[in-house]
Amino acid sequence: MALLNRANLNSFNLLLNHYYKFATGTVRLKTRGQISLSSHLRQEKIKQMSGNFADSENSPELSNVKSRTFETIIANRRDQACRSMLVQVKSLDSQDDLQNYCAQFGDILSMHHYQKDKEHYILIEFKDIVSINEIMSSASFGDEVSIAPIKSSVFWFRKRQFTLSYKKNQKKIMLATENGCTYPTEKEIANFLHNAKSISGQIINLYEALKLNDLEIRLRFHTAYHLEQYFSRLFQNIKVLPFGSSLNGFGTKRCDLDLVLILDNIQNKSTNMVFHTKSMKLNERREKKEFMGILASTMQHFIPGIHNVRKILEARVPIIKFNYNYTNIECDLSATNMTAVYMSELLNLYGEIDWRVRPLVTVIRKWAKSQKITSDVPGQWITNFSLSLLVLFYLQQQHILPSLKTLKLYATRDDIRCTENGIDCTFQRNLEKLPAEYKYKSNQDNLESLLYGFFKFISTFNFYTDGICIREGTVIPKPSSSALYITNPLETTLNVCKNVNTYELNLINEKAHDALFILETHNSKNNNDWGIMVLLKMKNFEIMGTLKLNRKEQSIVDYLENYSDEISKVDINPSKKKKKTV
Ligand code: UTP
Ligand code: MG
Repeated sequence: MALLNRANLNSFNLLLNHYYKFATGTVRLKTRGQISLSSHLRQEKIKQMSGNFADSENSPELSNVKSRTFETIIANRRDQACRSMLVQVKSLDSQDDLQNYCAQFGDILSMHHYQKDKEHYILIEFKDIVSINEIMSSASFGDEVSIAPIKSSVFWFRKRQFTLSYKKNQKKIMLATENGCTYPTEKEIANFLHNAKSISGQIINLYEALKLNDLEIRLRFHTAYHLEQYFSRLFQNIKVLPFGSSLNGFGTKRCDLDLVLILDNIQNKSTNMVFHTKSMKLNERREKKEFMGILASTMQHFIPGIHNVRKILEARVPIIKFNYNYTNIECDLSATNMTAVYMSELLNLYGEIDWRVRPLVTVIRKWAKSQKITSDVPGQWITNFSLSLLVLFYLQQQHILPSLKTLKLYATRDDIRCTENGIDCTFQRNLEKLPAEYKYKSNQDNLESLLYGFFKFISTFNFYTDGICIREGTVIPKPSSSALYITNPLETTLNVCKNVNTYELNLINEKAHDALFILETHNSKNNNDWGIMVLLKMKNFEIMGTLKLNRKEQSIVDYLENYSDEISKVDINPSKKKKKTV
């Protein structure tokens, strides 16, 4: 509270500026290059478990040993997006020509290829943004006559003769990714799950198969950057930041991309000439709705790649939904919604505190979808976000995650954040500064135990009288008549589950009982469909031959197999009978 009091209006602006400096990478971060304890412990644990695993250096866990706060991750990814350009080519055969052409403008760091339907795209990362600016100024519009002549950030590479001005014999760059953005089929996932050695191993395999890879993350930041480029031609100080599950580590392949548009403060300079401007108050609901409406029409009509724009302006947070064709991503754009960004940071932090959090959230989200507890369309059912909070709360009860109150208690001056509408989003952001019990956890339950425990928890929780409070880390008496009550951790007067009705709550309860029964009765690998395959309603299409994996993928699978082998089986009493509410 004392910290919040200090955040008066001036310091609020200062903090916001501070955030953007981080976000735009204009400030060198103190934490850059440090090794976080959590990552270090995770590394040690993985080393311990994988023994002399030859290719462990390639493990996704081990490659990420550098401590990176949420803000550094955003800053680095935004910087990468600024230095990258997306080019459509006729086929992969054009790669060499494209590389030769682009190399004239500067050093290329990496090239990534993916296909969208039959279209081929190459994402080129340059060392310096200047190279892209030069390419843009030498590019031209196509031959079509009736076009909106907007300089787009996506190019089409025409294979024509060109003379190389320099660097004729530069080294060929191998594609970092070829045919990236291909998603594992249900059949492949079922096969991964079938071949795991334990239910814990299945959960890890599922998480590894579904989590966003490097190219997918690059394309999400690139999508945000494209929009920012277009909007910057209208407004001087606009930023488009990604947030939500694409960023907090709870996102799976094909998840929507949440974007927030932010008008940064303009620094007052004492110049002789001052621009004439119009007033714009995006904090006022009516103005914000009007602004979003105009933006939506502009996007639909003028921005290449944007299709199927839908305005949802009456919601508590007005959003514009649209498809971005070049990267094949479904997006939700909101405006000046920093609380949601800080919320993503909080969820990301919880995911970083313990390595079990993200795999557990992934399997529970997937379970909820398979049981039709959640849906892609909004309605009177629980959302993925609320479900994730439920998992975090359960892990707080297991003493695996701290309450937000604890994170706030350990906050320092550097952690003070306050949103445009005065919401205090201050909490400790440095994992090393957490209390010892959250660095060296006494609860070392495996994922199978935790999954079972989660279902037990929700099937026995008294949702009729009690609510859930992540901030305090405790059960609270339900303050309203909503069927399900989960306090928004940052805006404590809000219930994130206000939309959920009693029917949907009962469904969750019923399905949790079913899940307990499944975990008790299908935990043996002797069956064709076993463990979470049954939980997720995944059929074992007759077992495919060995999947064709590249060396790195194979080593990850081998590693996961070794790893799951080490995880002890949960002690499930087979005499327990299924209890199902009718
Ligand atoms: P989403 O509903 O898109 O959730 O809200 P998600 O975590 O990205 O899940 P999927 O994968 O799309 O289904 C996006 C973000 O908005 C913030 C959270 O940070 C969430 O991750 N949010 C959402 C809130 O702060 N409060 C809410 O009530 C809902
Ligand atoms: Mg989302």
